[in-house]
Amino acid sequence: MWGICSRTVVGMAKTGGSVRPQHLVKPVSATRVAGRYLSHQKGLPCLPVPPLQQTCERYVTALEPIADADELMHTKKLVEEFQKAGGLGERLQKGLEKRARSTENWLSEWWVQLAYLEYRMPVVVHSSPGLVLPRMDFNDKLGQIRFAAKLIAGVLDFKTMIDNETLPVENMGGKPLCMNQYYEVLSSCRIPGLKRDSIVNHAKSSQPPKHISVTHNFQFFQLDVYNSDGTPLTEDQLRHQLERICSASQEMNAEPVGILTTQHRDSWGEAYLRLIKDKTNKESVAAIQKSIFTLCLDGATPEVTQEMSRSCAAVQMLHGGGSRWNSGNRWFDKTLQFIVGEDGTCGANYEHAPAEGPPIVALIDHVVEYTRKPETARSPAASLPTPRKLHFNITPEIKSDIEEAKRSIDTLAGDLDIKVIVFSHFGKNVPKAHKMSPDAFIQVALQLAFYRLYRRCCATYESASLRMYRLGRTDTIRSASSASASFVKAFDNPSTQNMEKVDLMEKAVKAHRSYTNMAINGQAIDRHLLGLKLQAIEEKLSIPEIFKDSVYTKALHYQLSTSQVPSKTDCVMCFGPVVPDGYGVCYNPMNDHINFAMSSFNTCEETDAGRLAQAVEGALMDMRAALERAPRAKL
Ligand code: COA
Repeated sequence: MWGICSRTVVGMAKTGGSVRPQHLVKPVSATRVAGRYLSHQKGLPCLPVPPLQQTCERYVTALEPIADADELMHTKKLVEEFQKAGGLGERLQKGLEKRARSTENWLSEWWVQLAYLEYRMPVVVHSSPGLVLPRMDFNDKLGQIRFAAKLIAGVLDFKTMIDNETLPVENMGGKPLCMNQYYEVLSSCRIPGLKRDSIVNHAKSSQPPKHISVTHNFQFFQLDVYNSDGTPLTEDQLRHQLERICSASQEMNAEPVGILTTQHRDSWGEAYLRLIKDKTNKESVAAIQKSIFTLCLDGATPEVTQEMSRSCAAVQMLHGGGSRWNSGNRWFDKTLQFIVGEDGTCGANYEHAPAEGPPIVALIDHVVEYTRKPETARSPAASLPTPRKLHFNITPEIKSDIEEAKRSIDTLAGDLDIKVIVFSHFGKNVPKAHKMSPDAFIQVALQLAFYRLYRRCCATYESASLRMYRLGRTDTIRSASSASASFVKAFDNPSTQNMEKVDLMEKAVKAHRSYTNMAINGQAIDRHLLGLKLQAIEEKLSIPEIFKDSVYTKALHYQLSTSQVPSKTDCVMCFGPVVPDGYGVCYNPMNDHINFAMSSFNTCEETDAGRLAQAVEGALMDMRAALERAPRAKL
């Protein structure tokens, strides 16, 4: 159904395309260095609409490894009908091309609405990724507060670059990337609605926020992080303020209002109206929504073995461990939440609508580097205003909503199986030495692992960045290809010679890399097909048969939803599966090792994150062994 960073829509009946989301409108604040951001953005190309024939052909090719012969024959007929001269496909293509001429990006507004704001499953697990940092070197409250103070200072340091528009422009293959997502992640928040959510971005208001929100023992505080002269608080001032917050929130049985944000979006949308009916509650919620980011100072986490500690940290970052642990110590609608545990467990959770993982990770890399620097300035803390406690009046109705939310998050937390592993035998170094794309090598290993477990190939999603285009988000790299299918089928066949296996491996890796190039250049099939479907809805035409085809549904049932999120820090991002019988797989390939986070649902008997993790390790090892057995001349 959905893919992470994607949430592609199946069986969708309507579109919110007519609404222009506020967060995509980009006014320049007075504090910014005039227009540097805008002039960069203006220079970026617009997302192209691929040719219709090309997408139709590539769609049929992409189905080969996952559809059987009869299905394929049927789909080919539907595709021919769709693309014929003067047919529905041509009409929709023209409509889409017209849309592309009159918008900054023909896809981005549709995308944020459909993939995120109209998606009604809880953002927890189903949409918001977690990010696990290496365990930090502290194990008590003092260490937690010290680290958290440094972390706040690090984010504010990064924010200065955003405010001054001095963030270095990123490149991919030498081409500059769209930097818009960086301007969307701070001071923004998702707001629940009854049928669709919205996003507010206060960074663009005439009075941008000067505070963060802090949660400790399920209680929220507003902490001003700038002095009246506009300078950020120093680390020792921040420490002092965090100590005050911790002292003022010793009560252990406060109602966990934040747990409401873990709910199904329709339920939360209704509960939200009940919550903000009260004036005090409304003000408290507004202070959280407006804050630059949320800092979660977490309580205890379950005691686990060393081997399990990263997986346990992933649980905390993804959903907080349930109502007994830290799920109530969050505001999951907040775009960016930093999480600091007392035992050195650290990381983040982010609401996906405004941005993809890479900008978030770049910010976090900066923050982690910053926390390693020695403290610079010291300032007197005594005169600082007391951090403001955000009060909530809990009516019986709200109490009942909280209890309902506790039950649902406990069920969801109990259902999610997550396994974080460090594959330590090699990293990008080995594929590179064999002149192969490391990402493609890992994706082909995932295909082999899946095939070994299930003796078949499945629709596989990998996120590809569209940031070479203005306001670009993602498209899909379909990792299951005919070439990968031939490779996985031959690899364990005892009658296949090693030379042939290596040959098939190279072809599969090359096919993947070539799909990647196609996708990052705006020529993949998935967003184009979605655009054609949405165009039909926009023009009030009947939905074309190719989208009602069971094979289309199959093609969007991503049992493997995967993403590479690289980072300088030795961290790993994690997310849930996007279908009940699927896996979520995120990885950070470092030079000599690879961090993986794999997830599955316990209610599905066929899937098991731990088994997949083992199978992936085995596949990577076996692929390297095959390469090493092959004569060098061949490589
Ligand atoms: N021989 C030797 N080296 C090679 C090679 C080859 N044939 N092919 C690639 N490499 C090198 C690259 O030069 C690069 O070198 P570096 O480590 O010095 O930078 C490195 O291997 C990695 O390249 P590769 O593994 O091919 O991946 P990539 O960096 O091009 O990334 C994607 C591929 C798909 C992950 C990337 O294009 C992308 O779109 N990322 C966005 C993901 C995203 O948005 N996720 C969202 C999650 S919420």
